[in-house]
Amino acid sequence: MLVASNRGPVSYTVGEDGSLRTRRGGGGLVSGLSAIGSDADALWVCSALSDGDREAVRRGVGEDGVRMLDIPADVHADAYNGIANSVLWFVHHMLYQTPLEPVFDAEFRRQWASYEAYNRAFAEALAEEAAPGAAVVVQDYHLTLVPGLLRELRPDLRIGHFSHTPWAPPEYFRLLPDDIAGQVLRGMLGADRLGFLTRRWADAFTACCEQFADGLSGTAIGVHGLGTDADFLRGRAHEADVEERIVALREEIGTAPDGTPRKAVVRVDRTELSKNIVRGLLAYRQLLDDRPEWRERVVHVAFAYPSRQDLAVYRDYTAEVQRVAEEINERYGTPDWRPVVLHVKDDFARSLAAYRLADVALVNPIRDGMNLVAKEIPLLSERGCALVLSREAGAYEELGEDAIAVNPYDVVDTARALHEGLAMSQEERTGRAGRLAGAATALPPQQWFLDQLNALRDLRDESR
Ligand code: G6P
Repeated sequence: MLVASNRGPVSYTVGEDGSLRTRRGGGGLVSGLSAIGSDADALWVCSALSDGDREAVRRGVGEDGVRMLDIPADVHADAYNGIANSVLWFVHHMLYQTPLEPVFDAEFRRQWASYEAYNRAFAEALAEEAAPGAAVVVQDYHLTLVPGLLRELRPDLRIGHFSHTPWAPPEYFRLLPDDIAGQVLRGMLGADRLGFLTRRWADAFTACCEQFADGLSGTAIGVHGLGTDADFLRGRAHEADVEERIVALREEIGTAPDGTPRKAVVRVDRTELSKNIVRGLLAYRQLLDDRPEWRERVVHVAFAYPSRQDLAVYRDYTAEVQRVAEEINERYGTPDWRPVVLHVKDDFARSLAAYRLADVALVNPIRDGMNLVAKEIPLLSERGCALVLSREAGAYEELGEDAIAVNPYDVVDTARALHEGLAMSQEERTGRAGRLAGAATALPPQQWFLDQLNALRDLRDESR
C-alpha cells in the first residue's frame, strides 16, 4: 500500500552544528495520515519541501516507510506556491477577489508546466515502488494529475485519491481556463475511487464532472468524514510539557475582578486566509462593544501559526491579524487585562493546553474541507466548551446540531454566538460538548484510512 502527498509526516532543519532536526508536519492531512505510520507494509511518498529536507535526502537520512522526493526547488516552488496554493487552493476555497484576480497569463502557463512535471515525478516514483496490484492512495490538490499519469504507467494498480479541501461548485470552478479545468478533472478521474470529506464536496465534484467532462466515467466516489484520534490526543494532552503550558496560559488568562478565573474563547489555526481569523477578532471586538459585562471577564486566546509564508498575501494577512489584535488590546485593555492573547509561534503542546482551558471554541472559516480543531477542542476541553462553528466548515455536517452556527462573514452574528456560548449554562455546555466529542471521534484516522483501502480492494474484487 502506498500513500502520496506533498507534505510528509516530518520535515527537517539543519542545526548550527550541521545536525538534522526533525519536526512533525502540520495541518489536517498529516494528522489524518499519521495513523498509517505504524503499518509496516506502507510506503509514504512525499516531497522535500525545504533546504533541510533536501539535505536529508542527500544524506540518505529518513524515517522508515517514507520516501522523500527531491524535486528541483524551482519546480516545486512553481507547483506548490504558484499552482497548488495560489490557484487550486484559491478556487476550492473561493478566495479570489475577482475584480483583480485571477489572471491566467503566460507566467501561470509556465508554472502549470512545473505542476505537470511535479505530478509526473510522483507518478514515476509510485510506479517504480508499487508491487503488482498494489493500492495507492494519492492525497489532495497538489497531486490531481497523478491518478491519470499513474494509470498510464501502471494499469495494474488500484488508485484512490482523497481531497482534504472543499471542492468548488461548477460556477466557481469554471474560473479556471477550460483546458486546465479539463486536465484536473481527467487527472482525478484516472483514479478508481475518489474520496471527499463531506457529501457537499463530493456533490460539487460530481457536478463539475457533469458540466466540464463526460461525467464520472466509471470512477467511484466515497465520503469519509475524518475524525480525531481520541487516545493519542488525550494522552498527549497530559504530558509534562502541556502541563507546563497550562500553568503559563492560566497566568496569561488571569482572573476577573471578582476573583473567578476569566473565561477563554479559544481558536487555533494556521494563519490561513480561509480560516477567517481577522473577522473572528472583529466579532470579539463587537462582543466587547455590545456586551460590556464581558469586559475583564473574558480573554480571546488566539493561536495563529505561520503558514505558506512564501506567499505575500499570507504575510500580509499575518500582519493584519497582529494589527487587529493589538488594536483591540489598546482600545479595551487595562493594566490587569489583556483582552486578546495572540501567539504566532507554532507550539503543539501550547495548543493542547489551550484546548483544555477552552470555555468557547471559535471555528469560523470562510470555507474548510473539515476543520479538525472543531473536533479536537470539545474532546479535550475540561470546562465543557461551547463550539461556535461556521456553517461553511465541513465539520458542520457532523457537528452542526450541537454547535452554535454562524455565517462566517457576519461579525455581528458571530459576536452574538460568542455571547451565547459564554452565557450558556454549565449543564447545557457539558451536554453539548459530550455529544460533540462523540461525533468528533466517530471515525478515527485509522478507521478512516482503512475504510478507503477496503473500498478500493472491494473494487478490485468486483472487477476481477
Ligand atoms: C491543508 C491541506 C493539506 C496541507 C495543510 C497544511 O490541510 O489540505 O494538504 O498539508 O493544509 O498546509 P501546507 O501548505 O503547510 O502543507
